[in-house]
Amino acid sequence: MGDDKSNCKNNWGLATRAVRSGLDRSKFGETAEAIYATSGFVYETAELAEARFSGESEGFVYSRFGNPTVRVFENRLASIEGAEDCRATASGMSAVFASLMCQLKSGDHVVSSRSLFGSCHYIITELLPKYGIEVTLVDGRSLDEWQSALKKNTKCIFFESPSNPTLEIVDICTLSDIAHSIGAKVIIDNVFSSPALQQPLELGADIVVYSTTKHIDGQGRCLGGAILSSEKWISDQLVPFYRNTGPTMSPFNAWVMTKGLETLHLRVKYMCESAQKIAYFLSNSTNVQSVIYPGLETHPQYNLAKKQMSNSGTVVSFEIEGGRKEAFKVLNELKIIDISNNLGDSKSLITHPATTTHQRLSEDNRIQLGISDSLVRLSVGLEDTDDLIVDLRQAINSL
Ligand SMILES: Cc1ncc(COP(=O)(O)O)c(C=O)c1O
Repeated sequence: MGDDKSNCKNNWGLATRAVRSGLDRSKFGETAEAIYATSGFVYETAELAEARFSGESEGFVYSRFGNPTVRVFENRLASIEGAEDCRATASGMSAVFASLMCQLKSGDHVVSSRSLFGSCHYIITELLPKYGIEVTLVDGRSLDEWQSALKKNTKCIFFESPSNPTLEIVDICTLSDIAHSIGAKVIIDNVFSSPALQQPLELGADIVVYSTTKHIDGQGRCLGGAILSSEKWISDQLVPFYRNTGPTMSPFNAWVMTKGLETLHLRVKYMCESAQKIAYFLSNSTNVQSVIYPGLETHPQYNLAKKQMSNSGTVVSFEIEGGRKEAFKVLNELKIIDISNNLGDSKSLITHPATTTHQRLSEDNRIQLGISDSLVRLSVGLEDTDDLIVDLRQAINSL
């Protein structure tokens, strides 16, 4: 769907695709994308209704299955990502859940990196085993651990790169080769990179999932998610699950996300430049024990990050000298940067993972993941970098 002039042209650069791919103008010729706020669609005849349901006639049937506004977003994101197809979901977590559950059955085995966002950790370690799916957790940085965890019944592997909140990097290219050698599918949660910084399908992954709530909306307005893969995997595995369980994105949210894609690259570029300067500033600050940022040479996987990401990301994690009390004091003293667990927003946001996003993990798990009581995660926004540094300096100096 979509008129010829505006649909995904392979030779377009990324910026052009971000603004024009998937455009499907109505008869009114609107400049911006229209919002089709409708749950259903009407048919001129009963025969046409039958043909739509059987798939003989192309067209929309019901917004749980597909909607013109949502389709524009899916086509545009697929074009930016270099994916054959995409399905948008109501949240990032529904994307993660659907990408796993649509293809797994009792008796299958999943290998996942240990370093995961709290809700991803819950799905992998608590929900999947309830359905008879065996799970092995590994240190995502160690290719040897991945290799030795794989078994005959390993159906897929799952990881984030960089991971939330300790920014561990997984070697997507080599790991994909390892997984494919036994026929396992590679699913990556690409949230921390966003489509602006890393193209996992080109690197060998099979399925990419997003929380579009983060950089793609980028202005803290709507929840959303997306799953991208080959046309075949989407139609054979995902579509039956998606149509019948209904994790669908609303047309309004899809419209917001479509407009977010138009400026994604510009915003992420600025945020990365700012994050790099802030990481340098923090590295030289007293009262800061350590700084984790893939763009710092002190990051153990600096070279790998450089190889597979076009820039170093918008999130900087750091440990305050002391513990939880000192970390809380720094957060409470900030005047510009808000305390919030979201990320990828135009507003800079800071959180204390041990007591928020990763609160439900056991202390042992948190220690194993490097989520200490002194760790804070800063999502760098679009404010003036100097203002953010002044704000961080006064908060850190209050200790
Ligand atoms: C890595 C990662 N994956 C998934 C999600 C979930 O996204 P959502 O909140 O849109 O469900 C988050 C949210 O913070 C995240 O950080």
